[in-house]
Amino acid sequence: MKPTEIAPNIYDVGIIDWNTRDFHGYVTPRGVTYNSYLLVDEKICLIDTVKEPFTEEYLLKISKVVPLAAIDYVIVNHVEPDHSGALPKIAELAPDAVFYITQQGKAEAIQHYGDRFNFVVVKEGDRLSLGKRELCFLPLPMLHWPDSMATYCREEQMLFSNDAFGQHYCTSKRFDDEVDEAILFYEAQKYFANILYPYARLVNKALQKVASLPLKMIAPSHGVIWRSKIDSIAKKYEAWGKGAKNDTLLIVYESMWGGTEKIARAIAFGAAAAGVPVKVFRLNSSDASEIVAELITAGGLLCGSPTLNSGMMPAAAGFLTYLKGLRPTGKLAAAFGTYGWNGGAQKDMEELLGKAGFELEQGFNAKWKPRQEDCSQAEQFGYEFALKLKERI
Ligand code: FEO
Repeated sequence: MKPTEIAPNIYDVGIIDWNTRDFHGYVTPRGVTYNSYLLVDEKICLIDTVKEPFTEEYLLKISKVVPLAAIDYVIVNHVEPDHSGALPKIAELAPDAVFYITQQGKAEAIQHYGDRFNFVVVKEGDRLSLGKRELCFLPLPMLHWPDSMATYCREEQMLFSNDAFGQHYCTSKRFDDEVDEAILFYEAQKYFANILYPYARLVNKALQKVASLPLKMIAPSHGVIWRSKIDSIAKKYEAWGKGAKNDTLLIVYESMWGGTEKIARAIAFGAAAAGVPVKVFRLNSSDASEIVAELITAGGLLCGSPTLNSGMMPAAAGFLTYLKGLRPTGKLAAAFGTYGWNGGAQKDMEELLGKAGFELEQGFNAKWKPRQEDCSQAEQFGYEFALKLKERI
C-alpha cells in the first residue's frame, strides 16, 4: 500500500475503486480511481482527496509518507464528493491545514460539509509557495462544476487537472505508457463524452490556458497520469471540444415485437451500402454511456422506437433525455419506428432530438409488422440519410 512516488517527493496517494460500476449513471466497467497527490517540500501539500467510503485507506496511505497532522495545505480543485469526501477528516486530523479553493468552491464546500475549514479563496494566477516549488491556480469553471480548477507546478512542469483529462480506468499502473493505449484513449473519450460534453466549447478555452504551460505530466484526478502521450490527448481534447466528426452513423433503437428492429436492420444495410461506417445498438442491451462515447465523433444518429401507449418506449425516452442534457451539436438525426392504430413515438423522439440540438431530417415509419416493401423503403431511407451525412463531412 506504499504510495507511488510519481516525481521526487510527489506521491500518488489516491484510491483505486475496482468495483464501482455506476458513476452517477455513467456505467464504468473498468472501475473508477480517485487520485490525490501529496507534495512534500518545506511545506506539505495535498491536492484533492477521495470519495468518503475510502477515507480510512486513504489516510493510511498518506501516513506512510508524512504524519497527517503535518499537512500544511490542501488544494481543493473540485468539491464534487468523489474528490472532497475525505476533506472533513483531513480538517480534523490536520487542524492547522489551510484549504485553497475558488470562491464558488468555498460556497459549495460549506453547503456540503459545513463551515469547518480554514479557507483561502484563490483566483486565476494566484500562487502558493511550498518551498522549492510553487503552485499556480488555474480555475476551469464548468470542467466539471462551476468551482473546478487545475493547479500547476512550474518547477515540475506538472498540471494537476482534476476532472479534465480523466478516465474511469482502474489499473495498478499509474502512467499512460504502462497501459493498453487503445483502452486508455477509449476511456478518455468515453469520459469526455459523458462528463465534459455539455461544456465542450469551454474545453478549448481551457486548452488555450494549458497550451502555454511547459508540461511533463498531466495528473488528473481519475485514471492514469499522462506523461508520454500529452500531445495526443491534447489533440483529442481539441477535436472533441470543437465537435470534430466523421461520417459514422449510429442507429439506436428499442423494439416491442421485432418490427422496429427489422426496420433498424434494413436502415443499417442501406446506410452501409452508401459507404458510411454504421454502428447499431439496441437500447435495452446497450448502455447509454457507451453509445455516447461513440456519438461524440459520429456524424449522425437515427433513433427508433415503436409507438407504445401513444408515445415512445421508455428506453428511448431515457436515452434521449440523457442526450438532451449532454447537448451534442452539429449532428444530423432522424426518428424511425413502427406503429399500429395510431402513432406518437416519432413525434416524441423528434421533439427530444431537437431539444438535444440535433439537426432533424424527415424520419421513417412503418405500420404494424413491416412487410418486404417496408424494409426496402427503410433500406432506401438509410441509403439516402447516409449520403446526406457524407455530404456534410
Ligand atoms: Fe470527478 Fe466532477 O468529479
